[in-house]
Amino acid sequence: MRKNVIAGNWKMNKVLSEATEFVGEVVNKAPESDQTEAIVCAPFPFLASLVEQTKNSPVKIAAQNMHYEESGAFTGEVSPGMLKDLGVTHVVLGHSERRELFAETDESVNKKTQAAFKHGLTPIVCVGETLDQREANETMNHVGNQVKAALEGLSEEQVASTIIAYEPIWAIGTGKTATSEQANEVCTHIRNVVKDVTSEETAEKVVLQYGGSVKPANIKELLAQSDIDGALVGGASLEADSFLQLVEAGK
Ligand code: G3P
Repeated sequence: MRKNVIAGNWKMNKVLSEATEFVGEVVNKAPESDQTEAIVCAPFPFLASLVEQTKNSPVKIAAQNMHYEESGAFTGEVSPGMLKDLGVTHVVLGHSERRELFAETDESVNKKTQAAFKHGLTPIVCVGETLDQREANETMNHVGNQVKAALEGLSEEQVASTIIAYEPIWAIGTGKTATSEQANEVCTHIRNVVKDVTSEETAEKVVLQYGGSVKPANIKELLAQSDIDGALVGGASLEADSFLQLVEAGK
C-alpha cells in the first residue's frame, strides 16, 4: 500500500522567522498517520534550523535542488553530502522552473538522482509537459522520456523509493489544475514506463505525486485517483492552515 506524500514546495519565499512559525504550527498540528507523509521543501538557508525544529516529529524537510558533485570549485552550489549531513531527507530535482530558468537537463537530473541515492537522500523528480506539447499530443512521449532519463542507471530498489512528481507546466501557479482524470492518465502512463524499465512489482511501489494548482478544494479528488499518491504543492503550501488541510486530506 503506497502512502500519500504531501510536499509543500515553498520555492523562493519566506524569511527564517516565517519559516519557523509555519513549521512550528505544522509540527504541532500535523496528524499522526501511517497513511500520509508531510514534507516541507524549504530554501537552503532555513534547512538546518527546520531540521532541528522537526526532530521529534514525522514532518520531513527537503531541499529544492542540489548539485550532483560531492565537493569542489562550484561557487554558490550545495552538495548532496551537505544536505545529508544537516538531516535533510528529501530533495526536489528537475523542477520545471529549474529546467526552464537554470538550464537543468535530463542528463543533470539523472546525475542528481544518482547522487541523491548515493548520499541516502530520497529524490522527488519532477516531470511535465508545456501547453504546446499537450496541444501537439506529445505529453505521454515527453513525460515518458523524462522519466526514463531520470531513472537511468538506478537499481530497482532505488527506483522503488524514488518519488516522481507529475507537474504539467501549464498548471503551475496558474490556478488551472489538470482535471483529476488528466492527471491520473499521465500518472498511469508514468507507472507503465517505470514498469517497462524495471518490473511490475517495482512500479507498484513508486509514489507518484501530482503538482499544479493543488489546493484544499481539489486535493481529495486528486488523491482518489488510482495512480496519484500525493501532491507537490506550491502556492497553497505557503500558509500553514492550508498545508495542514492538504496533509489531513492524505490520511
Ligand atoms: O512544485 C510545486 C509547483 O510547481 C506547483 O505550484 O503554485 O501551482 O501549486 P502551484
